Amino acid sequence: MVDKEQFETVGDGLLVRAPAKINLSLLVAGQRPDGYHELETIMAKVNWYDEILIEPGLKAGIELICQGPQWAPAGEENIIYRAAKLLLNSFGRSVDIKITLTKNIPAGSGLGSASSDAAATLMGLNRYLDIQLPNRQLAKLAPQLGSDVAFFLNGPLAQCSGKGEKTKKLNKKFNFLALLILPDVSASTPKVYANYKHNQPLYEKLSNQINLYIQKNRIDLVVKMCANMLQTSSFGLVEGLAELKAKIESLGIGPCCLSGSGSTIFFIIERGDEERARQYKHKVKEKIGCKSIIVSNNRW
Ligand code: C5P
Repeated sequence: MVDKEQFETVGDGLLVRAPAKINLSLLVAGQRPDGYHELETIMAKVNWYDEILIEPGLKAGIELICQGPQWAPAGEENIIYRAAKLLLNSFGRSVDIKITLTKNIPAGSGLGSASSDAAATLMGLNRYLDIQLPNRQLAKLAPQLGSDVAFFLNGPLAQCSGKGEKTKKLNKKFNFLALLILPDVSASTPKVYANYKHNQPLYEKLSNQINLYIQKNRIDLVVKMCANMLQTSSFGLVEGLAELKAKIESLGIGPCCLSGSGSTIFFIIERGDEERARQYKHKVKEKIGCKSIIVSNNRW
């Protein structure tokens, strides 16, 4: 994948890119009284994007068109529609706007694409309509749309807590290549959380270790742990995913991690070693028949 800028003027419209993310670690600290789970997660944006084109409307209100290789719900069911409505209502704006989503990143893959689309819509409309809100104001709207949305307003590398909406930018540069292995199955995030069984001693052990590495600025060592406390739940629900991960690891390409609630499995390669990434991609296709793509850390 090629690094691209977030905003680009296209005719009288504005193109906004919405990157995917991976969870370099994902710890669950327990269930909250509101039913959500308290998280500690390190997320990194990668340079694979959905594209959102904002143009003057030809119809009254918000018109949303979905296209591209991946499915996305049309109209009011789409988080982009809800994000646009939320921003316009919050600032008493009533405009006719046409939004075209090109969906490249699959839903239900743990790559955060719906949340990223929502954040890109907030940022894009803010710019396109010259509302001029700072990101911290947009971040106040974000939790109404989803727990991950605030991260996509910041980043590209952050430690997130609470439901995921409290983001602390990690200033350490962590340059990497990653092979994202994309099984042909999707995982339902609410179901994976509902099926989750908490393990407090494991949480404490992982949390202490990861915080120590963060203090030492060793994100590379955090990644090597492949800590994802949703994995057992996700593997219990998504048929064939545990077996797939075991098969990939048996190819001898190193430890693989699950992103978010699944289903993407990834592994990190040193930046600059594109040749190795290409070899692994080929191996995964050849031996396991699974599609994968090579990405790198996003720069914004
Ligand atoms: O916030 P978002 O809509 O992305 O979350 C989807 C679902 O995942 C929630 O309805 C909830 O069931 C679960 N969730 C959770 N704890 C979190 C984030 C999400 O239980 N911290």
